[in-house]
Formats: sequence, structure tokens, C-alpha cells
Amino acid sequence: MDLYEAIKERRSIRKFKKIPVAKDLLEKIFDVALWAPSGMNRQNWKFFVLAGERKEELVSISAISFEYLEPQLQERFADKPKIVEATRRFFKRLGGAPVVVCAFFEPANMEDVTSFQNVAAAIQNLLVVAHAEGLGSCWMTGPLTVGEEISRFLGVKDMTLVAVIPMGYPDETPKIPPRRPDRVVYQGF
Ligand SMILES: Cc1cc2nc3c(=O)[nH]c(=O)nc-3n(C[C@H](O)[C@H](O)[C@H](O)COP(=O)(O)O)c2cc1C
Repeated sequence: MDLYEAIKERRSIRKFKKIPVAKDLLEKIFDVALWAPSGMNRQNWKFFVLAGERKEELVSISAISFEYLEPQLQERFADKPKIVEATRRFFKRLGGAPVVVCAFFEPANMEDVTSFQNVAAAIQNLLVVAHAEGLGSCWMTGPLTVGEEISRFLGVKDMTLVAVIPMGYPDETPKIPPRRPDRVVYQGF
């Protein structure tokens, strides 16, 4: 798949087919994704890739985060109750994703703002390459409200959870969310 196409056609997927994802394919995708740039080339990202029973347990911990998010969603989408209900359903099972990725950074003697960007660069690569391989995904920070519980479950100490990413073969074709036109300022041309 052409790179431009992969970037533009990737969508956040919130409903997945009940088809497992081969570990080989995930390894191939991560091999490419981790060629992301990082501050001082520290590569201080760490990804946990869960399937099967471990994934099911993670999903039930992550689902609790909806309770914390619900008041914000009710306010933001006061006139669109269907969005709140769809989000509730999505958080309950993470769309039935067969794989869930938890993305962390390790302390690396640098400001957190740099570490967050390191992980984010790798996540964007991950999502685009996964899409090019026919997989869907959804970058989520909603579950961070239960980040401590997720870290404890994974046995992680001294790392910061950045995102939770359900992944699998898409079972929906979402509408294309429009992009804002005024986000780049050119000067001096
Ligand atoms: C940092 C970040 C956090 C996000 N958190 C969530 C989330 O918690 N739940 C969710 O359903 N989508 C989440 N998204 C997905 C966005 O809603 C989505 O990217 C946006 O609506 C644009 O749609 P697209 O990804 O299909 O282009 C997040 C995306 C980013 C980059």
C-alpha cells in the first residue's frame, strides 16, 4: 500500500471481527513501527501486546474507566446521547478486539514531554503499518484513568502508561471524520 494512502485511509476502528491476529504479523508490524524517531535515540518505549485470557482480563479492567469518562462525555455530547451509548458499548469490550496493546515509556533521564512524544511517534507508525497490513486499531487515552490498575495487572513498575490500543481485523467502515483546514501556518514564502 502506498504510504500516502495508508496515512489518509487509516481510521479509528471500534468494532472488530472475531478473527485472531497471528503473532508473526504483529512482530512484523512492530519491527517497522519501532523505527520511529526518539529524543536522543533513547527508544524508551515499551509495548505489551495481549491476546487470549490476558487480553480479556485487561479489557475488564479498562472497562471501568468509562465510569470516570461518562460525566465528561455527557457534557460534551449533551445533544447526542447515541454517542455516549456507543462509547459505553465500545469501552465494555473494546469492540471485541482480539489483541490489545498497552504503550508505556520508561524513565530515561529526559523530560516526560519528550518521552510522551517518543511513544506517540511509535504509536502512529504502529497504527499506519497495521492498517497497511489490513488491521484496524484505535489509539485510546480514555483507559488512562485506570492506568495504575493496568500497570499493576501487567506487573509494570516505574513506567508511564501512554495509550491502550485495541487491534484486529475491522468489522466496520467508519465515516471519515473531517480535518480542520487552518492548522498550518506558512511564513516567509
Ligand atoms: C491521543 C489520542 C487519544 C484518543 N483517545 C481515544 C479514546 O479514549 N477513545 C476513543 O474511542 N478514541 C480515541 N481516540 C481516537 C480519536 O477519536 C480519533 O483519532 C479521531 O476522532 C479521528 O478519527 P480517525 O482516527 O478515524 O481519523 C484518540 C486519539 C488520539 C490521537
